[in-house]
Amino acid sequence: MRLQLVTWHDVEAYLKKSTGIIIPIGSTEQHGPNGLVGTDALTAEFVAQGVGEKLGALVAPTISVGMAQHHLDFPGSMTLRPSTLIAVVRDNIQSLMRHGFTRFFFVNGHGGNIATVTAAFSEIYAERSLVRGGNTPSVKCKLRNWWEGPGIRALSKELYGGAEGSHATPSEVSLTFHMFPHTEKKVPMSPEVAPNGSFADAEDYRRNFPDGRIGSNPNLSTAAHGKRIYETAVEEVAKDYLAFTAS
Ligand code: NI
Repeated sequence: MRLQLVTWHDVEAYLKKSTGIIIPIGSTEQHGPNGLVGTDALTAEFVAQGVGEKLGALVAPTISVGMAQHHLDFPGSMTLRPSTLIAVVRDNIQSLMRHGFTRFFFVNGHGGNIATVTAAFSEIYAERSLVRGGNTPSVKCKLRNWWEGPGIRALSKELYGGAEGSHATPSEVSLTFHMFPHTEKKVPMSPEVAPNGSFADAEDYRRNFPDGRIGSNPNLSTAAHGKRIYETAVEEVAKDYLAFTAS
């Protein structure tokens, strides 16, 4: 159930049965030679909406621009500063808290968001702890990377072996090919599997990873793989959402 497609009466009725909500969060950044700039936001949104439909859970609007400063040397990439993203996440959560939501389950599509979103959760908790006193955290927040379940990891290993990598991965690119079949394509890439390594700022990133990929071979991506990845991710993330909202 998408929050944007229901009325406030519907939300009021929903809150009588559940105080949990799913919030997709991604990024808008380069994804190598054949991956879409929207990959991380689109995949998070798609998996989150699949979970929402499966469980009848509300899904908030997607936070589509994340913390991606290291991608800014590639055209089209956008970022929020960590401090801005913390403020965005807090304001989103606190808007919903005002109505009685207490369980905030972020379906994340971008590794670069993890540290910042986790810091935003700590800000929410700190505010409650400092202002209200006591130690009764009735509000809980969780970040769940859609690619992290054991089923997805096994599937990635089966399909891509050591060519999954950590950015512009064949798993995430396959997922977007499943969602938007007209975007499926292969592009010559050299070397076939990109190098691994670390990075600091945007120039350092581009110097180390000139075509944008890290450790991956996204030419292995197909829409058919994406369908399997989607179904597995929805199943695993749904299970975690139920466990989280029961806590
Ligand atoms: Ni990505």
